[in-house]
Amino acid sequence: MFKLRLKRLWYARQSIRVSAVVCALTSLAGCTGVQSALDPAGREASRIAEIFWWMTGGALVVWIGVIILALWAARARAEAHNLVRTRFMIVGGGAVVPTVVLTVLLIYGLAPIPALHAPAPAGSLKIAVTGEQWWWRVRYLRPNAEPVVLANEIRLPLGEPVEFQLDSPDVIHSFWIPSLAGKMDMIPGRVTRLVINATRTGSFRGACAEYCGESHALMAFPVVVQEKEEFTRWLTAQAQPAQIPPEAGAALGQELFLANGCGACHTVRGTPAAGVIGPDLTHVGSRLSIAAGTLTNEPEEFTRWVAHTTVVKPGALMPTFQMLPPEQLRSLSLYLEALK
Ligand code: CUA
Repeated sequence: MFKLRLKRLWYARQSIRVSAVVCALTSLAGCTGVQSALDPAGREASRIAEIFWWMTGGALVVWIGVIILALWAARARAEAHNLVRTRFMIVGGGAVVPTVVLTVLLIYGLAPIPALHAPAPAGSLKIAVTGEQWWWRVRYLRPNAEPVVLANEIRLPLGEPVEFQLDSPDVIHSFWIPSLAGKMDMIPGRVTRLVINATRTGSFRGACAEYCGESHALMAFPVVVQEKEEFTRWLTAQAQPAQIPPEAGAALGQELFLANGCGACHTVRGTPAAGVIGPDLTHVGSRLSIAAGTLTNEPEEFTRWVAHTTVVKPGALMPTFQMLPPEQLRSLSLYLEALK
């Protein structure tokens, strides 16, 4: 009987240990990755991560102090206490210490805000991003030239300040690339600004951080920070009109794209398709994901998107083309995939 109890106790202790390790590992997993504010790759995100760690440290010190006091109170004998010392504890611990600690942390937390909101230097790259339902309209603004329009993907040059001009035609979204900077609301009727200085090349993930409707969680975008030359090559390619794909299936796909009215909502530069309601598809085949970070960029996924749009993304404004025969859907997908 005694042995059995010992064994149970041993199992209980082991399971507590295992749970503690699992909890610690899952918490630490949140500290890295393509969408972690605690693994910064931008000047603004580094400053925010620093504030987070100091705040966490401050909270930890306060928590340890409270636990020590609670243990002390639990063990104190029930007897008359020294009145001066008791008052000192109540006024000091209850009012003075919290006021001082919170004031210091508040000043420390507010101090970097003016620098984080400072405008980008003149001549910086400017990118206008509009929050749509539920995707991102992206325009690289160029002096004395038409903007380069794309969607659901952002690339940035390393080490250069970039100004984002953010807005929305209908509901409030929030533009957030946790690895690079803080978040900024996109508010209908006004343009908000956010400056990002990327400090490390790599692939990251941005997301909408403000509930904006049923597919709010399906509104993401890949972000790539590249060396300047590589970035310039990419932007130059994005500015070009679409190359008409030579593959037979793709050519048929283009005919179907135009015949089914896709061009009423989508633009494919270099073709009669010039709609501006939906995403610009001129180079959609070159993107790292489709449907705003929801699907991988493969022909099968294009088919799934076109045939089951509102299943993949509930509430999406794009009509579903489920009535098209499978071979036509296949040709359409080949065409979209070929728009590199
Ligand atoms: Cu857009 Cu949430």
